[in-house]
Amino acid sequence: MAGRIPQSFIDELIARADIVEIIGARISLKKAGREYKACCPFHSEKTPSFWVSPDKQFYHCFGCGAHGTALGFLMEYEKLSFVEAVEDLAQRAGLELPREARDAHNSGGGADLHQVMSQSAQFFAQNLSDNARALAYVDKRGIEPGTARKFALGYATDSWNALLNRFGSQEADRQRLLLAGLIIERERRGNEREGGCYDRFRDRIMFPIRDSRGRVIAFGGRILDQGEPKYLNSPETPLFHKGRELYGLYEARQAHADFKRLMIVEGYMDVVRLHQAGITYAVATLGTATTQEHLNKIFRLTSEVVFCFDGDRAGRQAAWRALDNALPLARDGRELRFLFLPEGQDPDSLVGAEGMAAFEARLNTALPLSEYLVQQLVAQTDLLHADGRAKLAALAKPLFARMPEGVLRELLADRLAAEIRMPAAKLKQLLLSGASSRDTSSPMEPMRRTPERMSAGRRNMLSQAISLVLHHPRAAHAVEDPAALSGLDKPGISVLQTLLEQARESHQPSTATLLERWRDLPEFERLAELAAGAPLVPDADAAGHELSMAVQKLIETLGPGHRTNELLRKAEELGLNSDEKAELSQLLKSRNQPPSQT
Ligand code: UTP
Ligand code: MN
Repeated sequence: MAGRIPQSFIDELIARADIVEIIGARISLKKAGREYKACCPFHSEKTPSFWVSPDKQFYHCFGCGAHGTALGFLMEYEKLSFVEAVEDLAQRAGLELPREARDAHNSGGGADLHQVMSQSAQFFAQNLSDNARALAYVDKRGIEPGTARKFALGYATDSWNALLNRFGSQEADRQRLLLAGLIIERERRGNEREGGCYDRFRDRIMFPIRDSRGRVIAFGGRILDQGEPKYLNSPETPLFHKGRELYGLYEARQAHADFKRLMIVEGYMDVVRLHQAGITYAVATLGTATTQEHLNKIFRLTSEVVFCFDGDRAGRQAAWRALDNALPLARDGRELRFLFLPEGQDPDSLVGAEGMAAFEARLNTALPLSEYLVQQLVAQTDLLHADGRAKLAALAKPLFARMPEGVLRELLADRLAAEIRMPAAKLKQLLLSGASSRDTSSPMEPMRRTPERMSAGRRNMLSQAISLVLHHPRAAHAVEDPAALSGLDKPGISVLQTLLEQARESHQPSTATLLERWRDLPEFERLAELAAGAPLVPDADAAGHELSMAVQKLIETLGPGHRTNELLRKAEELGLNSDEKAELSQLLKSRNQPPSQT
């Protein structure tokens, strides 16, 4: 969605917005030096650790790790979507959302697809009420008519062209059906001119997937009886990105003004039957692992999440992936728990058999994140022996490093310390110590954010350079040629190069405008963390100097001539062994070779 709003417009919004005013209108801020502080609105605290920086147009809580731009604040605090937050800021600034963004959001191409989806959903629903076999199946699965209506269930008939014939008479209509993922283009064979199209969903119970406004954006279809695949989903379309959507969330929001918690289950049928039984806070991912995007969406609505998995192997694997994605989001004030159902059962079958009360009682047995994590690691190690205990610490270390500072992480350290039989303080030190004296971690890996560590200058050169650009975007002009970084072999180099280019191209670069360009990218959280840290140097001039030195150093130490120079120096000072000699002569040979002319 962010992609359809021009970056220049977001730049403009951020430049015009005043984060102090926006946050100050909602919570009470106190001036402290150049910045403002408050008690954090995202976790409960008595002494203020929430800071707002007018220079960076950025907020940061040292207590729970929450951080972001004015847009991010509106999304978190007012529980707005990205586009809604943009609209809010635009209105406040008296700016009109550019037409292309409005169209993609409300009407134009998007509207056509919404209309196609809505018509198709109605068509499927009608088919269901007309088809005795499909109705019998729904009934056999324990779904009551009222529930089927609430979820707008339907049926795609056992036909190759029922939908196509109904809605695809004109070429333009067929194009829309194709774009909506409802029909598929037949592959052309031989000298056929036209391959034709056919319906994607055939002989399936249709589960419409709805967005937060209740519009149908995709379908999941379950085959009646036997057949492969059991569930077929809409492909990715302009309306539908499956790593982002949660089945049942619209219906859950209809049922609740406020959530105590949300429960993530695996299947469509699970959601439908849980809601029917009264557990109306269940949602499902769509055949994918739970992503951070899912979780961010959920944490805007509630602070408590229960992951519920089938007791089988696939369920346990899915749980571990969910945990892995959830770690960086395990901030204070949030509760993440894992519920495992007995082998061979899923929420659908269980809630059918035992009802709402018994199922909810199971929620009390869900494992807190730290508990589940420790259990999993303990199962992989032999704690009777010292090496087993060391292995446990080693396994925990990277996971630990991905968690934000806070109570949850402390709890985890305490639990691990008990298993390893080591004083908790000592273990924590071990878990937090740098990976090695030479910091080889990629700067894009989540990193601990203790203030000491930020200023200690122990971070690697690349992280420092990235942090310098983020804090002082204008310093990017001090770097002569960012393109010289391209081709250097180190994860994260391209991030630095892109940031430098973005900062140089932008008319009014600030920490916030730079960050907003990364909102939809995997690096976003890591960059926001760096931006939340204390600046390495006080002003843009000093930053420019540091930055150009850092870039030069990176090119020297990673560029093609580096190894050659290192070996030449060593040859002079210490002499080379035979492997090194061979390597050097190889390097010199390739250096002297003219570029190939073929
Ligand atoms: P399950 O195989 O656990 O099925 O898939 P289920 O939910 O218990 O379904 P029933 O009870 O047999 O009808 C869980 C989820 O994984 C995705 C779907 O989202 C499904 O709801 N899935 C499963 C697919 O996308 N494709 C498949 O072929 C199977
Ligand atoms: Mn099932």
